[in-house]
Amino acid sequence: MNQDDFFKKLTGHAKEYGFVFPSSEIYDGLSAVYDYGQNGVELKNNIRNYWWKAMVQHHENIVGIDAAIFMHPTTWKASGHVDAFNDPLVDNKDSKKRYRADVLVEEHVSKLEDKIAKEVEKARKRFGESFNEQQFVTTNARVLEISQQIEDAKRRLYGSMESGDMAAIKQLIEDLGIVCPISGTRNWTDVRQFNLMFSTQMGSTAEGASEIYLRPETAQGIFVNYLNVQKTGRMKIPFGIAQTGKAFRNEIVARQFIFRMREFEQMEMQFFVRPGEELEWFEYWKQQRLRWHLSLGIPASKYRFHDHEKLAHYANAAADIEFEFPFGFKELEGIHSRTDFDLGAHQKYSGKKIQYFDPELNQSYVPYVVETSIGLDRMFLAMLSNAYTEEKLEDGSERVVLKLPPVLAPVKAAILPLVAKDGLPEKAREIMEALKYDFYCQYEEKDSIGKRYRRHDAIGTPLCITVDHQTLEDNTVTLRDRDTMLQERIDIAALGSLIGQKLKPLRV
Ligand code: GAP
Repeated sequence: MNQDDFFKKLTGHAKEYGFVFPSSEIYDGLSAVYDYGQNGVELKNNIRNYWWKAMVQHHENIVGIDAAIFMHPTTWKASGHVDAFNDPLVDNKDSKKRYRADVLVEEHVSKLEDKIAKEVEKARKRFGESFNEQQFVTTNARVLEISQQIEDAKRRLYGSMESGDMAAIKQLIEDLGIVCPISGTRNWTDVRQFNLMFSTQMGSTAEGASEIYLRPETAQGIFVNYLNVQKTGRMKIPFGIAQTGKAFRNEIVARQFIFRMREFEQMEMQFFVRPGEELEWFEYWKQQRLRWHLSLGIPASKYRFHDHEKLAHYANAAADIEFEFPFGFKELEGIHSRTDFDLGAHQKYSGKKIQYFDPELNQSYVPYVVETSIGLDRMFLAMLSNAYTEEKLEDGSERVVLKLPPVLAPVKAAILPLVAKDGLPEKAREIMEALKYDFYCQYEEKDSIGKRYRRHDAIGTPLCITVDHQTLEDNTVTLRDRDTMLQERIDIAALGSLIGQKLKPLRV
């Protein structure tokens, strides 16, 4: 199955089984906004809880907060978002379609890269066994020419982005001969900077109202509460503040389902450290965060680090944890060493002293910050795409199964009376009562047992508990494993500890 087909199947499955719906779908949806259905909300809550436990409850020196989405407008001036949280946009005058200018150039570059890949494949076929790819790409005239074009385009794009030279980006689009995919013309407007923050009015009357923003990241809610938490929690450096919550960005190129949304949720942690110790902590958090991902049992080959070479002006180190999505390796989480930029800026704009008195050093300073920031929806997509499996079974039939990490699965166990009579439903309900306070279980008696197994495979339920006539005699049930489909007969009294065992994270 190619990646496009896989992605179509995945989004279809997500909708059919109550994971993700387009927002306000009865009105044809709202671009890049999605709703989570009955199973989606469970998966999302489980991811959030798994993160919160690992980051807050398992660290004595990290506490959580829940700051408001609306913040004083000066927050966004101090953070740099008012002046610099921009995308360069360009319109095609014929199709009236709007594009991100940098994305147009990047897509052009990736077409050039495809051309090189094709040249390599052609040569591989021609030379057979003796083909030396490294030698070919460093000596073939055609490949060298395309590589040079790629280099030039990237250098000009990133240089112009850095200096904010929009005219140079327009010139680059023209020089590269980029056409609008809809109209096929090169009739472009000038490139303009477009701020990604959504704004609204706060106040009861239009005249007295002031413009405020919907937060584009949760991090600033942590920075402005630094003093409150440090003082009331008597926190000693190094310590962290964590938060999960909604963020909003007016993304122009919003695509790939829930990968890039206009309303999304972040899980962020700011770790406050002594100046000079931040790079050690940066390395520590890179490794810690990767271990968190691996503890879910996903193969390590699905993850890789991408260290940033070009750093934002306030950062002295930055790396992404990338995940192999159906459309390739892409950013899942960012780890940033943000120096004292944010606290320093809030100190300046608010006029309040935002410092820490370090009793060991006997001095005050503005703490440095190492941030870990992961998109909850993006993690959801990573887990869903990794879990989606189509299997051909020995009897020739097929099944779709979500091989989700059990701890994240929406439903932990399905409780299924073999038939809806002979006292089996009553016995099954007894088991449900005993388990439901510890694990989210679902009771189902409709349809054949085979159909019920398939339904639970499709939503990723790790265990199915089947109550049959033997259960009434000896208090045993069959326990079916989602992935192996093996069934074993076990005592009802052992169910709780067996389910609990299944949900334990890996120690990595
Ligand atoms: N406080 C730092 C910060 O916000 P970011 O790299 O802009 O950094 C962090 O965002 C994470 O938030 C990303 O790694 C990604 O997982 C998620 N994210 C960012 N924009 C998103 C969007 N439009 N839709 C879904 N997730 C997004």
